[in-house]
Amino acid sequence: MIARLNWTLLALFLLSMIANFTVRPDPTVPNIEILPDMAHSVAYASFSPNPILPDGKTMQPPVPGTLPRGFAPLHYQATPEDALRAAAELKNPIDPQKAKERGAVVYQNFCTPCHGGALRGDGAVALHGFPAPPNLLGEKSMKLAEGQMFHILTFGQKKMPSYASQLTMNDRWSAIAYVRSMQNAAAAPAPASEAAK
Ligand code: HEC
Repeated sequence: MIARLNWTLLALFLLSMIANFTVRPDPTVPNIEILPDMAHSVAYASFSPNPILPDGKTMQPPVPGTLPRGFAPLHYQATPEDALRAAAELKNPIDPQKAKERGAVVYQNFCTPCHGGALRGDGAVALHGFPAPPNLLGEKSMKLAEGQMFHILTFGQKKMPSYASQLTMNDRWSAIAYVRSMQNAAAAPAPASEAAK
């Protein structure tokens, strides 16, 4: 009796050992699913092939000329000639009063490191060896058209990097409105009470 049981157990052991080496799960096939409910959508997944659309892709490329939200076409190149063209053609589309507030935040976060809090080109980075930017309250910068500043923020100018990838167009215009308002404040004659001090 005991001997027969031992033989049976040995046979079962050998069978399970053989099964262990011969029966392999196929990783390319999903496991058995019991009641998958709505796990599988009938809609085509974005990257799946599509038998209905002409190019066989589910995700369609945007129509030529499509612009992402918040972007506007900008037909300029990173050249000094186009900077002058931008100066003549581009106007700040945002109401300067509204833009100033947002612009102060943008300036504080993105421009202060080099241009300094008071626009004088003495930001922390400039004080530690980065070529100092010009004083934005200086004569030359005061004369810059807003369109040219937009070209500078979008494409960069010499050591000044482009801010197109960090700042939306609206934020660039806001920063410019802030710079212009600071320039106007610096250019305005001091009020009588200030002058008397
Ligand atoms: C990494 C340092 C750095 C940062 C950050 C920076 N700038 Fe500049 N900026 C410069 C330098 C350097 C110049 C001078 C470029 C040149 O030689 O023409 C400059 C030039 C300018 C000019 C042109 C001045 C002129 O008279 O030609 C404007 C306007 C300006 N920056 C605005 C901004 C604004 C607005 C920001 C924030 C969005 C900003 N910059 C961020 C370094 C910086």
